[in-house]
Amino acid sequence: MDDKNFNQTFANEWIRIIEDPSANIRENDLYPLIREWVQQTKAKNILDLGCGQGICSTKLGDSQISYVGVDPSPDLIFRAKELYSQDHRTFVVGNVYSLPFQNLHFDAVFSIAVWHLLSDIAKASSELSRVLKDKGNFLIVTADPNQYPTWTEKFADQKLNGQIFSGTHFNSDGTTSIDTLYLYSMDEIISSFNIAGLTITHIQVVRSLVAISGYKT
Ligand SMILES: C[S@@+](CC[C@H](N)C(=O)[O-])C[C@H]1O[C@@H](n2cnc3c(N)ncnc32)[C@H](O)[C@@H]1O
Repeated sequence: MDDKNFNQTFANEWIRIIEDPSANIRENDLYPLIREWVQQTKAKNILDLGCGQGICSTKLGDSQISYVGVDPSPDLIFRAKELYSQDHRTFVVGNVYSLPFQNLHFDAVFSIAVWHLLSDIAKASSELSRVLKDKGNFLIVTADPNQYPTWTEKFADQKLNGQIFSGTHFNSDGTTSIDTLYLYSMDEIISSFNIAGLTITHIQVVRSLVAISGYKT
């Protein structure tokens, strides 16, 4: 999967992965991390970039927070609505490169396991910053640059073109898909946030991921 491939095969595979009991491993680290961050931000309205099938909407800790999940896959947004729709939770089809929201709209923005799928993190960071209020908080959880082999070893037919990795993923329905990962250095990730006016205050490794948080300067 990458930021140009939002077809039904990809959506079905992600739904299977995240709704499989093995994904409960996230309850040990990722979801507590999101909950603690939400608590610290005291945000009243939150945006989830690349929300997938919407699971993170249920992990905020405070059920009264207004939550918007955005994802380019209509199939994933359909599933999110089916599973998690509530008055204060909205799921919208949209792309991080052109977010369908006004400037300075959200108190806080987070994104889980999306940034390493993006071909243009500068543009994504700039859009994040645009929709975030001044002093608003952000949290990006992405593949840890120090652990890229852990990510790439899962694929067959591996190819590396500069920092663009592609490989074959064997889907559970017997089909295959070519996935692309963008192997950014930590310096590139940090610099794209800084250029977008986002100040980083904390970086923490979570399994093979890294959680980067801060605020809009
Ligand atoms: C690994 S899934 C993570 C889903 C969700 N954040 C979670 O952790 O459960 C990656 C998600 O990023 C989304 N994505 C990929 N490119 C995107 C883009 N350009 N804009 C927004 N979302 C994107 C995909 O559609 C997919 O739902």
